[in-house]
Amino acid sequence: MTEGARIGDLALYRRLAAELRPYWRGIAGILLLSFAATPLSLLTPLPLKIAVDTVLGSQPVPDFLAPLLPGTASKTVLLIAAAALLALVTVLTYSFALGLSLLRTYTGEKLTLSFRAKLFHRAQQLSFDYHDRKGTLDAVYRIQNDATALQGFAISGVVPLFANAVTLLAMIVVTARIDALLAIVALAICPVLYLLLSFSRRSVRPRWAELKAAESAAMGVVHEVLAALRTVKSFNREEQEAERFIGRAGKLVTGNVQVALIESGFDLLIGLTIALGTAAVLMIGVWHVQAGVLSLGSLLLVMGYLAQLYKPLETISRQVTKLQSYIASAERACALLDSLADVPQRPSARPLRRASGRISFEHVSFAYGAERVLDDISFEIAAGTAVRIVGRTGAGKTTMMNLLARFYDPTRGHILLDGTDLRDYRVDDLRRQFALVLQEPVLFSTTIGENIRYARSDATQQEIIAAAKAANAHDFIARLPEGYDTPVGERGLTLSGGERQRISLARAFLKDAPILILDEPTSAVDAGTEAAIIESIDRLITARTSFLIAHRPSAIRHCDMIIHIEGGRLVGIGPAAATGFPARVAAEASAH
Ligand SMILES: Nc1ncnc2c1ncn2[C@@H]1O[C@H](COP(=O)(O)OP(=O)(O)OP(=O)(O)O)[C@@H](O)[C@H]1O
Ligand SMILES: [Mg+2]
Repeated sequence: MTEGARIGDLALYRRLAAELRPYWRGIAGILLLSFAATPLSLLTPLPLKIAVDTVLGSQPVPDFLAPLLPGTASKTVLLIAAAALLALVTVLTYSFALGLSLLRTYTGEKLTLSFRAKLFHRAQQLSFDYHDRKGTLDAVYRIQNDATALQGFAISGVVPLFANAVTLLAMIVVTARIDALLAIVALAICPVLYLLLSFSRRSVRPRWAELKAAESAAMGVVHEVLAALRTVKSFNREEQEAERFIGRAGKLVTGNVQVALIESGFDLLIGLTIALGTAAVLMIGVWHVQAGVLSLGSLLLVMGYLAQLYKPLETISRQVTKLQSYIASAERACALLDSLADVPQRPSARPLRRASGRISFEHVSFAYGAERVLDDISFEIAAGTAVRIVGRTGAGKTTMMNLLARFYDPTRGHILLDGTDLRDYRVDDLRRQFALVLQEPVLFSTTIGENIRYARSDATQQEIIAAAKAANAHDFIARLPEGYDTPVGERGLTLSGGERQRISLARAFLKDAPILILDEPTSAVDAGTEAAIIESIDRLITARTSFLIAHRPSAIRHCDMIIHIEGGRLVGIGPAAATGFPARVAAEASAH
């Protein structure tokens, strides 16, 4: 299985039942409508019996119809009644089917939507570690495809299973009342079917799980390639990427064929078993008619019932194999729900309105998985200080900021904000204290104005414009044909790197957080744009605790302190003004 330890079947069913509970009304409605189909299917073969036994033969009208059709009624009236019954039963059957289909679709879609929403919400809370390891498409696949399993499980799986079981029971009772021996013979095949089903279940489920994992891996290639199409094209790698896709998706062909083979193999066996049962009933029935124990009409009735008795049996058998696909998906969806959130919130977590911005690291160590990246880092920063972090690439600068914003928790040690451990604050309150400007600004496919508003959803248009002005972004935005209402392409690709970065700075101005983190904000832009960005950064860092990471010394005009880390260890810290220190550190850092 894909997720290490599998949750047991019982636990899984209990989980699914809990997910389904809010929709019990719809599901109960579907069950009721399906049950209503049972008496209808009991009526279906009846017109034939009346026609044969009463119209053609000379038996009396069946008891329950006697009040409607007096014994004196002519054969023509009886025949018309039988025909009318046939029509009535058909109309009712289809009306119920219509209602059932509507209710099933409605309940099923509602169910899927809410389950998807839950998975999506969870996927946003998941640790970066989860997405780093599995790729984001894994979660996409689980939300898009695996989430529908709940609907399949309940509405196409369990409910019909129940309804068919009830129909089956009713059919058995009715058949037994007509001819007990026939009922027993008909039922003799049940244990065989049961055995077949448990075999098929065991062989199909693990294959479904593999198939879903393979399908999601194949989609992962598509997702990755389309997101990085420029790189792919620049290296002329389209062919190889297509092959990589086929390599992963190719497994699906053999896998699906295998599953289909197993499923149809079992279908064949089930069909054969049922045919044997029918043949036995036919033989014994004919003997009974010959012996005069059974009327011909009753035999026809029983054969009609038998067809309907075996129909639910067959449906149940099919459902049980199909159910395995749903269960394999449901397992994957539940595994997503069970994965760890990025950073847990303590029950005693305290609220935080606006931090002053005093920060200390106390013996902080951190590892992504097994690889230690930060080693015993300790320092203290007063509120409002502008700190420059220097160090060779891979030294752990970004990692340090990831810990500060609590995207990860330290493996050892503490990070304190205003004297309190980060883990003691409410997570959403804590995140409000930080504004991040990263090397690769991320924009969403909406308008520029909305992209700036992302920092604070209640911001007014004036505030947005003020933030854009502070970020030196207003001029280029105003020149665009639709100004702030200009849509940016997916991930902002219709804007230049410098424009995107200025929008991301505007966000930071709008957010007005007490702590600012700038990670290589100018490394992707030209010198002219850099000057405009640095000017607005100077405005941004005043009166905030700011951390600036920049390889190029030109990227920073003003700072109070310098922190130097190498290989995950703190190798120097001091005021920027102290003689010798900053120059030495800066020279050392930028030499690499
Ligand atoms: N998600 C991750 N999973 C595993 N290892 C990681 C992850 N992110 C970073 N690392 C590793 O951690 C180390 C520190 O990375 P970090 O990004 O903090 O360096 P940096 O100082 O910011 O470098 P740069 O100046 O190039 O941005 C590197 O060796 C990197 O390979
Ligand atoms: Mg970095």
